[in-house]
Amino acid sequence: MKKLAIAYCLLIFSLGSVYSWAECDVEAGKKQFNKCVACHSVEADVQLMGPSLHGLMGRKVGSVEGFPFSEAMANADFIWTEETLDAFLESPMQYLPGTVMPFGGIRKAEQRQALNCYIGQLN
Ligand code: HEC
Repeated sequence: MKKLAIAYCLLIFSLGSVYSWAECDVEAGKKQFNKCVACHSVEADVQLMGPSLHGLMGRKVGSVEGFPFSEAMANADFIWTEETLDAFLESPMQYLPGTVMPFGGIRKAEQRQALNCYIGQLN
């Protein structure tokens, strides 16, 4: 009986995550992107004060050709995924000490999730 209850919980849990994926809200994410748009283009190869975010997911941090990254970002060694982007956006300077991205971070998890969704579909 206990096993059944655990299996049931797992089922609910996994349905929950499938559901939240289906909820990926590009429009809400686009709105959140207003916080970034002064410094980041979503067009490939358009560098503003910040690098283009086109094709961000799956690429190495600080690797946009010709963009003058800070030493901290150029030397960082991770790949942009939903997890790393979420952690970075929560507090850029804490996640990547020495970054010169002048942005305080986004406290609300659902706002970061929407942004993640929007940026993810730019690939
Ligand atoms: C005031 C300008 C500014 C704002 C606003 C800003 N950024 Fe940045 N961003 C930068 C700069 C400059 C860098 C390069 C930082 C470095 O070299 O340390 C950067 C770097 C990044 C990177 C790393 C890119 C790569 O190729 O590795 C990501 C991801 C990023 N920003 C996302 C965002 C998002 C999402 C927002 C909006 C919530 C945002 N930024 C808001 C200026 C900004």
